[in-house]
Amino acid sequence: MASLSLFFFLLFSLSASASERCNPNDKKALLQFKESLGNPYDLISWTPDQDCCNWFCCVECHPTTHRIVSLDVSYANVSGHIPPSVGDLPYLETLILRKLPKLTGPIPPAITKLTRLKMLWLNWNNLSGPVPPFLATLRNLDYINLSFNNLTGSIPPSLSQLPNLGYLRLDRNKLTGTIPKSFGKFAGTVPGLYLSHNQLTGPIPKSLGDLNFTDIDVSRNKLSGDVSFLFGPKSVLQFADFSRNMFEFDLTKVVFPASLTRLDLNHNKIYGSLPKGLAALELQLLNVSYNRLCGPIPVGGRMQRFEATEYFHNRCLCGAPLPACK
Ligand SMILES: *[C@@H]1O[C@H](CO)[C@@H](O)[C@H](O)[C@H]1NC(C)=O
Ligand SMILES: *[C@@H]1O[C@H](CO)[C@@H](O)[C@H](O)[C@H]1NC(C)=O
Ligand SMILES: *[C@@H]1O[C@H](CO)[C@@H](O)[C@H](O)[C@H]1NC(C)=O
Ligand SMILES: *[C@@H]1O[C@H](CO)[C@@H](O)[C@H](O)[C@H]1NC(C)=O
Ligand SMILES: *[C@@H]1O[C@H](CO)[C@@H](O)[C@H](O)[C@H]1NC(C)=O
Ligand SMILES: *[C@@H]1O[C@H](CO)[C@@H](O)[C@H](O)[C@H]1NC(C)=O
Repeated sequence: MASLSLFFFLLFSLSASASERCNPNDKKALLQFKESLGNPYDLISWTPDQDCCNWFCCVECHPTTHRIVSLDVSYANVSGHIPPSVGDLPYLETLILRKLPKLTGPIPPAITKLTRLKMLWLNWNNLSGPVPPFLATLRNLDYINLSFNNLTGSIPPSLSQLPNLGYLRLDRNKLTGTIPKSFGKFAGTVPGLYLSHNQLTGPIPKSLGDLNFTDIDVSRNKLSGDVSFLFGPKSVLQFADFSRNMFEFDLTKVVFPASLTRLDLNHNKIYGSLPKGLAALELQLLNVSYNRLCGPIPVGGRMQRFEATEYFHNRCLCGAPLPACK
């Protein structure tokens, strides 16, 4: 009986290996990856006797080369550090490890071996240590998402050397230091910049005014100084969230670009009055509450359709939707 089942087992494994498309090096790296993460239940279909291109979860083989091009482990019960074996998947273009609350430790240098990587999403984990400067060596990266982790240290200036970066999301970490001056000149495209919910300090570097940012979110930091140089008629800003910082400047003469649709300035120390030009914009969101603004709310556009809470707690803003000016 035992020998009979052994016979069938051998027959089965032979036929499996004859048609196996999975690259043996990729399989080895993936099995090591699984073991390092404590053989989580979610990866139960990852077995040596099955073609890795047929595994149920989390991997994708290239249709012709059959090399692993995508690894996506999300919402799984994994614990431990990011295994260095992930670096032994040289054809990887997408690496997603997300919503893994027990994934801890630093982002390993082994990631620098993934030279074809385009998407690196490591958001909603408990990763610690720095945002590694070595990410700048991955020239094909177009989307970095490291948000919702415990990353510390400062933002590496070298990230501006990435020629294809479309999005940089470092929000909801514990990053300190200043926004790098180098971010005033990206090697290629200008990325959407999401740096909110950190502990960044200092002013926004003037160099950023030379760039065509469309999206910038630096809310809930400890940034200070003036941001008006990011606006102006030539700016292409669409979404700007500067809320809950210590920005302090005169808003009166700021000219906002026609492209602007969402502007959040709440909880700063902004003074002066609201420029009349605001009424000409097609704003979907405006919040200037909790500042030191004064004078009448410009009439027209959507200005009177916003709620009072979007204007309240200022020095002496007045007129609809706030009480009439005296
Ligand atoms: C998660 O994995 C650990 C072992 O690593 C196990 O003790 C625990 O029961 C698992 N939790 C769930 C919800 O499967
Ligand atoms: C990090 O771990 C803590 C406790 O261990 C947990 O409460 C928190 O939700 C985790 N964070 C994330 C983003 O999963
Ligand atoms: C991450 O930070 C949270 C909040 O400070 C903390 O509760 C949690 O223990 C940290 N997790 C790790 C793995 O350090
Ligand atoms: C990046 O992370 C943020 C916060 O978790 C999330 O809102 C956003 O959708 C993420 N983007 C991707 C592509 O996962
Ligand atoms: C910003 O856009 C303007 C007009 O579209 C262009 O002339 C300028 O070169 C751009 N600046 C940068 C730094 O890309
Ligand atoms: C505007 O911001 C303030 C302060 O954060 C908040 O209380 C208020 O609800 C916001 N208004 C709207 C409509 O989101």
